[in-house]
Amino acid sequence: MDFRRPLIIPSLLAADFANIEAEVKRAEAAGAEWLHLDVMDGNFVDNISFGPALIAAVRKHTKMFLDVHLMIHRADHYLERFLKAGADNISIHVEADYDTSVDATLKRIKAAGKSAGLVINPATPFEAAKPFLPLIDLFLIMTVVPGFGGQPFMEKETMPKLAEARDWRDAHGLQYHLEVDGGIYTNTAPIARKHGANLFVCGTSSFGPPDMKHSMAELTASVG
Ligand code: DX5
Ligand code: ZN
Repeated sequence: MDFRRPLIIPSLLAADFANIEAEVKRAEAAGAEWLHLDVMDGNFVDNISFGPALIAAVRKHTKMFLDVHLMIHRADHYLERFLKAGADNISIHVEADYDTSVDATLKRIKAAGKSAGLVINPATPFEAAKPFLPLIDLFLIMTVVPGFGGQPFMEKETMPKLAEARDWRDAHGLQYHLEVDGGIYTNTAPIARKHGANLFVCGTSSFGPPDMKHSMAELTASVG
């Protein structure tokens, strides 16, 4: 997919967990092409969400591109299970612990024929990601401290980094998507768009309203 094309990506974290199949269908019917799946281990972040079994269950019900965001330590140890579950993109955090390393893990994702993503938290400088940028398809700049939906967009801490990541990509002939995640609404998405984002993860703002088709259309129009 062209990294210049903006895309609104619903995050399943904000869906009704008692009706996952219906929620996946609701996102699809609302026009979503990608679905974001937040995996939290209660250790790397202060929350526990779901793991490979749920992703495999979602996989059975949709052809949407599954964008898996691992907020876990030892992603390399668990990697095969997420690949087997049917993830299309797997994003890993630069701040997490690994049995091997960040670059070995990214290379394994690529070797499996999947899209590889790298994530940095709001407090992590762009420099920490630089060595890995030639290896990745997607660079996720967290716009909240990960762990929970519904938090406010951290503009000051994150937008300069996003612009830096865009300028670096363009200056070095790289191809990664720029994704933002956390506090994305119709008022904040255009700010992230202006600083270079093309992938907009939306939890509360997409699944929250009863008419998801309408919320997705409004979000899409805001970055159009
Ligand atoms: C935050 C997660 C996000 C979350 C975003 O830890 O990584 O993907 O679902 O939720 P909102 O859009 O409600 O900020
Ligand atoms: Zn996420």
